[in-house]
Formats: sequence, C-alpha cells, structure tokens
Amino acid sequence: MKYLYEVILLDKRPTRVISRETRSRAFKLMKDLIAELRGDAHHMVEPPYEELLDVVQWMREDIEALPEPLVSWTLISNVDEYEYVHPYDVAVFSIATAIAMGNVKRINDVGVGAFLHDIGMALTKISSSHIEGEGLLEDDIPLYRSHPELGVKVLRQHPGISAFVKAIVSQHHERMDGSGFPRGFRGHDIHLYSRIVACADVYSSLLHRSYLKKTISPAEVVEYMMSLAGFELDKDVVRVMLSCVAPFPEGATVKLSTGELAVVSHLSSGLLTRPVVQVLAREGKALVETPEEIDLRQPEHQTRLIVGIV
Ligand SMILES: [Fe+2]
Ligand SMILES: [Fe+2]
Repeated sequence: MKYLYEVILLDKRPTRVISRETRSRAFKLMKDLIAELRGDAHHMVEPPYEELLDVVQWMREDIEALPEPLVSWTLISNVDEYEYVHPYDVAVFSIATAIAMGNVKRINDVGVGAFLHDIGMALTKISSSHIEGEGLLEDDIPLYRSHPELGVKVLRQHPGISAFVKAIVSQHHERMDGSGFPRGFRGHDIHLYSRIVACADVYSSLLHRSYLKKTISPAEVVEYMMSLAGFELDKDVVRVMLSCVAPFPEGATVKLSTGELAVVSHLSSGLLTRPVVQVLAREGKALVETPEEIDLRQPEHQTRLIVGIV
C-alpha cells in the first residue's frame, strides 16, 4: 500500500535527474569492469574510457538542463548493489558540484575520475559492499590502503587516459589536514578535482551507511560533512556540494520525529534537509485517506525532523 501511494504521488513529476538509459549504461559499465578486474591476475584490464566519457557527457547534459544543479543519491535495495551504485553516485555528486563551482574546466575528467576512483578495490579482492555491510577486518587495512595505488597501476598502462583522472584515483583518500593516504598530502597539494571526488566519496558512503545501518539520519550526515569541512575536506567544495546534493532522494519514504510516515515529494534548493513531504500515516496509525502535503521549511513545521529513510 505504501508503494502504491509513492507511485501515485510521484507519477506527476520526474523523479530522476539522470535519464534511466544513462544510469543503466553506467551501472553496466561499472559492473562489467569490476568483474573483469576481479578475474584478472595481471592488472591488464582496459577501463572503458571512451564509453565512460560518453556517459559522463550525457549525465552532464542532464544536470545542466536543470533549472539549478540539484541532484540526489540512489537508494539501493541490498548491500551488493553498493559496489556499482557508489561510483555512479560519486560521479553524479562530483559533476553537479563541479558545474556549480563554476571554475572547473575539465568537468568530464572529474566525472570519469569519480567513476574510476575505487577500481583498485577490485584488485584487492576486498569488496566495498562488504566494508559497507560488515566492516573492514583489521588484517585487511594495509591492503585496503593500497587501493588508490593499485587503481593508478591499471590506468598507467593506458596512456590515453587523462592525467587528471589518474590524479583523482591516486589522491581520493588524501585529506586536507594531511591525515589521508597513501602519501599524506596536505591542502592544495591535493588537486582540486581529487578534493571534489574525495568529498563526494565521503558523502555517498555516509548516506548509504545511514540508510543501510540506520545509525545516523541523513540530516546528521550533512552535519557531519560540515564538521569535516576545513579539516579533512575542502570547505569550499563541501559548501557547494551540500548546496546542490540533497541527502534525501525524491520518492524516498521517510520517518518524521513525530512518528509520521511520509514521502519526499519535492526537494528545494537552499534548505536541502527540509524538503516538501506528503504524510502517508500518522504515528502508529493506518495510512491516511488523502496524503497531506507539508513544506518542512515553514516555521510551523520546525519541530518535525526527518529521522531516517525507511
Ligand atoms: Fe577509495
Ligand atoms: Fe569510494
């Protein structure tokens, strides 16, 4: 019944920023690449560079066609999907942020670097979905920390791939305060494109974790990102990313602090943690006959917080 409401409510407006075809193509490219890398002993796999450039260009056109760059993330139904959905989300967040920043010249390289940022993980044989599910084992930490360099090793064999893409793969775990790996680079020694993808990587991973493990709410993820700004992450990039990447996907069913169940029906820029929702059920009660639309930005609804995605 809940899903029937979602279909009725969302039927009227487009819920996807990126076209379904582009998204499916991206998922297939990443799934095939990860499978190929897993089965390869010599790191000779050639990433589908030209195809990814096409996909990134289509994604960019979709985002640029919006009245403003306002995107969201992809809900997954099980942890195994994380492996190919995460690079896609990191690419969506990075492209939207790069567009919104206005000073990024090679946006397509940012997008392709975002897609490929974790390809070294496939060579470690540690699955990123396992990390999101059960967590990283102590013994796997050194191997895990080698994944940026393993990724670059794959790319190095293909001279046609842009140096910016290689920089992103190599530096996406470097942190502004020098606490990252593998080199411990600081501040602007880390390339701007790598700083964008690093923010997108952390944001995507936290949002998926909040959905899968329910330990923190999406709004708390935003707070946490702000707490990292200026320390681990580039504060300007975090500011722009949080202004154009919403922590709730349109169409997601959410629980409110009042106990009500609602569907996110409209994201609005500015206050991305306060979308317009349609209340489907009151606390502990059956579904309402006619869903009530509530704009969480309005003062009278200030006490209603979104506490999680269900
Ligand atoms: Fe990574
Ligand atoms: Fe990642």
